[in-house]
Amino acid sequence: MKLSKNMLKHLAIVVGICQNVVLEIPCPCFFNEKCRCNSIPIHTKIVTEIMLEVDCSNTRLQDIPDLPSNVYTLSLKKNNIKVINDYQFSLLSNLSELDISYNKIKRLNRFSFNGLSNLLFLNLNYNPLPYTERAIPIEVFKSLISLKQISIRHTCPYDKLLPEVALSNLKLLESLEIDIPQITPLKVVFSNSFDSLVHLDTLKVGICFLLEINNDTFYHLVHLKKIYFDIPCEISILPGAHHSLQKLHKIEMHYFYKYDVLSIADAIKELSMTPVQTIIFRNTFLHGTKENFDVWNILASRLNDSSVRHLQITENNPVGLFPESRIDPVPPSILTLNLSSNKLDQFVLELTNVQKLILRDNHLGDLLCLKTDDKHKGRNSKLEYVDISINNIYKLKHSIFQEHAELRYINLSHNHLQDVLFDVSRSNNLNLLDLSNNSISAFDQNSMRMFDNISLTSNLTIYLLNNSLQCTCKSLIFWKWVIGTRVNVLFDRRCLSEDGVVIQFMSINKRILELEKKCISYVSFIIIASIILMATLICIVVAVVHKYRWKLRYMFYLAKSKHRRHEAITDSKHYVYDAFISYCEHDNLFVINDCIQNLEMDRNFKLCLHQRDFLPGEEITTNITNAIHESRKTICIVTKNFFDSYYCMFEFNMARMESIYSRDKRNIIFLIFLEQILPQDMPLMLLELVQKDSYIEYPNDEQGDVVFWEKIDEALRQ
Ligand SMILES: *[C@@H]1O[C@H](CO)[C@@H](O)[C@H](O)[C@H]1NC(C)=O
Ligand SMILES: *[C@@H]1O[C@H](CO)[C@@H](O)[C@H](O)[C@H]1NC(C)=O
Ligand SMILES: *[C@@H]1O[C@H](CO)[C@@H](O)[C@H](O)[C@H]1NC(C)=O
Ligand SMILES: *[C@@H]1O[C@H](CO)[C@@H](O)[C@H](O)[C@H]1NC(C)=O
Ligand SMILES: *[C@@H]1O[C@H](CO)[C@@H](O)[C@H](O)[C@H]1NC(C)=O
Ligand SMILES: *[C@@H]1O[C@H](CO)[C@@H](O)[C@H](O)[C@H]1NC(C)=O
Ligand SMILES: *[C@@H]1O[C@H](CO)[C@@H](O)[C@H](O)[C@H]1NC(C)=O
Ligand SMILES: *[C@@H]1O[C@H](CO)[C@@H](O)[C@H](O)[C@H]1NC(C)=O
Repeated sequence: MKLSKNMLKHLAIVVGICQNVVLEIPCPCFFNEKCRCNSIPIHTKIVTEIMLEVDCSNTRLQDIPDLPSNVYTLSLKKNNIKVINDYQFSLLSNLSELDISYNKIKRLNRFSFNGLSNLLFLNLNYNPLPYTERAIPIEVFKSLISLKQISIRHTCPYDKLLPEVALSNLKLLESLEIDIPQITPLKVVFSNSFDSLVHLDTLKVGICFLLEINNDTFYHLVHLKKIYFDIPCEISILPGAHHSLQKLHKIEMHYFYKYDVLSIADAIKELSMTPVQTIIFRNTFLHGTKENFDVWNILASRLNDSSVRHLQITENNPVGLFPESRIDPVPPSILTLNLSSNKLDQFVLELTNVQKLILRDNHLGDLLCLKTDDKHKGRNSKLEYVDISINNIYKLKHSIFQEHAELRYINLSHNHLQDVLFDVSRSNNLNLLDLSNNSISAFDQNSMRMFDNISLTSNLTIYLLNNSLQCTCKSLIFWKWVIGTRVNVLFDRRCLSEDGVVIQFMSINKRILELEKKCISYVSFIIIASIILMATLICIVVAVVHKYRWKLRYMFYLAKSKHRRHEAITDSKHYVYDAFISYCEHDNLFVINDCIQNLEMDRNFKLCLHQRDFLPGEEITTNITNAIHESRKTICIVTKNFFDSYYCMFEFNMARMESIYSRDKRNIIFLIFLEQILPQDMPLMLLELVQKDSYIEYPNDEQGDVVFWEKIDEALRQ
């Protein structure tokens, strides 16, 4: 129930749209379902009337449907209509546009257009309609009293005349599109019948045969301002032709009939004597190489004193268009120069007074150099508008726009730019910079500052659509700039994440917030990770230092002493002392009474005792290291006090290191236990030596003593 109610609502909305005559949504026409009708309100002086725009194009119609009187425009384009009956449109007095092009109409009837008193535009192009009196009756256009534009191009190309009498009835005609038949020589193309068309200012030529324009070609079309040979039509402009082009304003040409230097030079000279302001050479210079045939220099010299302001040379063969060296500067009168679609791969030209330069769709890459006139060096360039879109540009020279301070419009779209590296900082009036469809990921700080600077003096808009803008932590600054700057930046609501994923977004502010959050956690992640890394490193270092603390200390002291005493012992045979006695103060009686007596006096050993042999003024640790190093053996007098004494343990450990690192791991330590010590009370290192039998216990009785000292004697001689 609920569902069907909803459906009804939707249906009602759809019907409502079609009945709501003001909305511009085409619906099938009530008089013919194949046609689409669009209702439009037309405001007349008295009332607002609802009119119809009827589109019956491309519907395989054979006959023209019956139409209501409020049809305003009618397209019957691309159908199979063969005939327009008499009085076919007699009801359509409000029709203003009628398009019957691309049909199969072979002939018109005398009253075919009867009643079309308000028709402004009639298009009969592309019908097999010959220019004969039978096909186009003399009076057929008589009722078209308001017609401004008629198009009968591309009909039957084999006629020998124009339907000039029929056309002469169109007194208000402003624009004529027509083929130029192969008129018999000596007959004027446009005869005096055209004298009556006093409003005709535009002529578009369709099919034409080798038209030679001379002093009487347009003699009866004196009001012509614009002539378009915009289809492949070969013409030649003969000397004196400018007399028939007295009001010429704009001319577009395709081929030149006599394609050689002289005829082109003459033609351009002729044109330059008319008041023409716009010359279009589209698809004109196609033949390419001919020796010394440098179109540009011919044009430049022939247009030197002309009135031509707008020169367009498009869709031509680049070969021979510009000479390889000594390219003449742009003639001073020319303000607009359009060189699009010429496959140019080099452009070096003195721009003289050019304000608008269009180089769209060439192959300029980075071989681009916009020069200003050498003679006017120092004078400001006039260039305001430059279009270098679609040029395969990957990189632009930093200085490319520097000389052009007047620039207002720069179009660099459809290239492959990745950064803004060019300098426009002097163009204070820059209004529009189109960078859409490039590969820009973000602006750098310099560019942002530059654009901000320009926006102080100009309302700058930058197009950045269809680029690969990134939303990464690196580009966060850019996005913040985009929303904060006075520059209008147009961008798509999508960006690329770090891993190249396209992210769509609705609100840029929200996107920035998300990005900020992500980047903060990113930063904290980095910080925490570095702290952990540091801590781990410190732990490892501490562990290593701890493990090798004795070795390190040994090395340190050894290095220190070696530094002080270069004569340190290297020869194992020559030690200063036979033994270094390591003992603590508590046990010094034994050393002084027994050791010196028994070892030094009786057996002639040289002992090192810290009390007696250490150098005063030297650090104790250094003294110890030196003593161990300079003694063949180290004898430790071990009591319980030995373990508690810092220096005793130091001496023991240093001796251990000495044996490992300086004496090829030969044992140099000999322990004398003055008292009974349980293994569990001993440090591990000591225990190791005990297990190697490198010790002796002091017996402290007459007989034992003799054996004891003998054993030590033996140990010291080893
Ligand atoms: C068409 O124009 C005529 C006047 O030529 C006018 O009387 C008539 O109302 C118009 N028809 C429509 C449907 O607007
Ligand atoms: C065109 O030039 C020829 C001579 O070249 C001259 O006889 C003729 O009168 C001129 N026609 C017009 C319309 O000026
Ligand atoms: C254009 O005319 C000026 C003098 O009016 C002359 O100096 C210059 O060389 C001419 N340029 C060309 C390309 O003929
Ligand atoms: C820039 O050039 C491109 C391609 O030639 C064109 O489509 C676009 O409209 C131009 N941009 C502007 C702002 O005129
Ligand atoms: C901005 O403009 C000021 C003065 O107008 C200039 O000194 C400064 O160099 C400019 N900065 C940039 C980045 O162009
Ligand atoms: C600046 O230019 C933009 C786009 O052309 C326009 O929408 C806006 O109104 C302009 N602002 C000012 C202050 O002129
Ligand atoms: C962006 O690219 C798409 C196709 O890739 C194209 O249809 C669209 O016109 C482009 N938009 C602009 C502004 O260039
Ligand atoms: C740029 O435009 C071209 C069409 O001119 C299109 O093929 C291409 O995909 C576009 N590039 C981007 C990045 O949208």
